[in-house]
Amino acid sequence: MRTQIGIVGAGPAGLVLSHLLHLQKIESVVLEVRSRKYIEERIRAGVLEQGTVDLLVETGVGARLKREGLVHHGIELRFNRRGHRIDLHELSGGKAITVYAQQEVIKDLVAARLDAGGQIIFEANDVTVHGFDGPKPSIRFRRNGQAEELHCDFIAGCDGFHGVCRTSIPANVITDYDHVYPFGWLGILAQAPPSSNELIYCQHERGFALFSMRTPEVSRLYIQVPNDEDIKSWPDDRIWSELQLRSALDGNWKLAIGPVLQKNIAGLRSYVAEPMQYGKLFLAGDAAHIVPATGAKGLNLAVADVRILAQALVEFYKSGKTRLLERYSETCLRRVWKAQRFSWWMTTMLHKFDTDSAFDQHRRIAELDYLTGSRAAMTSLAENYVGLPWD
Ligand code: FAD
Ligand code: PHB
Repeated sequence: MRTQIGIVGAGPAGLVLSHLLHLQKIESVVLEVRSRKYIEERIRAGVLEQGTVDLLVETGVGARLKREGLVHHGIELRFNRRGHRIDLHELSGGKAITVYAQQEVIKDLVAARLDAGGQIIFEANDVTVHGFDGPKPSIRFRRNGQAEELHCDFIAGCDGFHGVCRTSIPANVITDYDHVYPFGWLGILAQAPPSSNELIYCQHERGFALFSMRTPEVSRLYIQVPNDEDIKSWPDDRIWSELQLRSALDGNWKLAIGPVLQKNIAGLRSYVAEPMQYGKLFLAGDAAHIVPATGAKGLNLAVADVRILAQALVEFYKSGKTRLLERYSETCLRRVWKAQRFSWWMTTMLHKFDTDSAFDQHRRIAELDYLTGSRAAMTSLAENYVGLPWD
């Protein structure tokens, strides 16, 4: 088999890349280890930046997102039993975020690729990447037990944090920057209407809590738990009472409760691999970097990377120039590090650390108090949260 761009991974990075390339008449094949059903049901992110939404709409895959996505103009920060609204729309000059589940984005992209005759090979096993340090890159894999090889001009490693692409680059080429937080998030999906129209980020002495949603009938809720927590020690009643305690408010507030549809614990991590390219292998999205979910940036960064990669590949195929390809890593990393800073800042401001002294606790409250009282500080949060400009 032969194509122009061999893409490993059908997450947001791989699928958006394949779609953008197709619009510019560049061929690609996507190899995905999981089944179509699995990736279309996997519960992950929910918040899309303005730029992500615009890109999906402008490139013709945003019709359902426009219809069903929930546009939010603000978020709430809650601490010391009081809520403070950050008016994202006003502070960012008219931008907003859209709540639309990642698996819905995936469904829309898979449908668009397949309708356009695009090739996504699901359940591609034992994927390995070869020859990317020379002129003939290729990807080997097994389909229905049969060994196959895909020859291509370039390989896009869009296979997430645990994929094979990053670790196929010689170790001495990559510098990694890693920070693991001493806590994770227990997340639930509940058949309960959102308790508020907007997302609520709660700072509390018992730990962080987040109130998000998926639809007007389904809530997505998170609480901070220790890193090694066993999910079995969190029966539904305990989760609801903890959510109740961490969101307690002087004033009107009623937590809507309903059947728990899904429950999981995920760790929080900040990670960057530099550079994001080696020879003809380009890393994009979680394959190259991870942010703690507090800033809601992961999916959006994946889209930002492949937007840059698609532009660079288009320049190469149109003019033979490699200028943008050579700058790919440097261009992406400027945005990546800014998203890292923002996600780290939101995480450290809103979570409880066991190592906190009384001084740290006072400083954290002072930071939130300052933030919610200063238009300048809120503007900074707003412009990062809705997404920094592309360039
Ligand atoms: P992935 O989505 O991980 O896609 C990689 C794909 O590659 C997968 O389909 C995988 O099956 C496939 N793959 C892996 N290995 C191989 C292999 N060897 N061969 C072939 N295929 C392979 N981000 C936000 O922006 N906003 C949020 O609100 C948000 N909330 C989150 C909440 C949770 C609980 C979690 C876990 C994440 C959240 N994120 C959020 C992060 C976001 O989901 C990721 O950043 C995003 O999925 C990255 O996209 P990607 O395409 O780079 O990688
Ligand atoms: C989510 O809805 O899953 C979500 C929202 C905001 C975040 C993280 C996750 O910061």
